Amino acid sequence: MSVKAKIGPSILNADLSQLFEESEKLLNNGADYLHLDVMDGTFVPNLTFGHPVVKCLRSKIKDAFFETHMMVQRPQQWIESMADAGVDQYTYHIEPVLDQVDEISRKIREAGMKVGLAIKPGTDLEAVVKHIPNADMILIMTVEPGFGGQKFMTNQMPKVKWLRENYPLLDIEVDGGVGQETIHQCAKAGANMIVSGTAIINADNQRETISLLRSTVQDAIDA
Ligand code: DX5
Ligand code: ZN
Repeated sequence: MSVKAKIGPSILNADLSQLFEESEKLLNNGADYLHLDVMDGTFVPNLTFGHPVVKCLRSKIKDAFFETHMMVQRPQQWIESMADAGVDQYTYHIEPVLDQVDEISRKIREAGMKVGLAIKPGTDLEAVVKHIPNADMILIMTVEPGFGGQKFMTNQMPKVKWLRENYPLLDIEVDGGVGQETIHQCAKAGANMIVSGTAIINADNQRETISLLRSTVQDAIDA
C-alpha cells in the first residue's frame, strides 16, 4: 500500500467571476480535486470567499472532491456551514487554536468531513505532529498564506521529508509556489497532494501541466 499522487488546483488566481467555468475546466483537464482558498482578512491580510460561494459551486459540480483551505482566525466557526455547503475536506490552520486542535478536528469529522491540518512556514512541525492521529492530511505551506503567485520556499522541504519518513501512508500536501520548476523538490521530499495555483491557471496547456505535475509525484512514490 502507498499514497497516491493527486493534483488540486487552487482557483484563487483564476477569473473568479467565472468560478464554475474555471473549476469545470480544471476538472476536465484532469484535476483530482479542487483546493478552495478561504480567507478572513484577519488570519491573513486578504479576503476571498466563504461557504455561500462554495455552496453555489457545489450545486453545479456534484461529484468533485472539494477541499477548503481555511486561512481563518476561528476555524471552529465555519465547520457546520462548510459541511452544509458540500465540502469534503476541511483543512485549517492550527496556529490560532493550538490548544483546541483535537476538539475542532473531532467536530469536523462529526460533521462528515475529512480533517486537514495546516502550518505556516514559521510554525514548527512539532506543533502538528501530536495531532496526526486525529487528522487525515497535513498541509505544509511553502509560502506565507494569503496570496497566490509567491516564491516557493525550499526551506520547508525538510518538514515534508521528516513527515514522509515517519508516516509512510499519511497524505502530505504542499501549497504555494508549486509548478514545473519546483515540483521535483516536493516529489523528492515525499509530498503526494499538490496544490498549484498560478502555475496551472496561467499554463498554456492546463492538461499537460496537471499531468506532468502528477506523473513527477507518482514516479517519486513508485521509485
Ligand atoms: C496561498 C494559497 C494558495 C495559493 C497557491 O495563501 O493558500 O493555495 O493560491 O497559489 P500559487 O500556486 O500561485 O502559489
Ligand atoms: Zn491554499
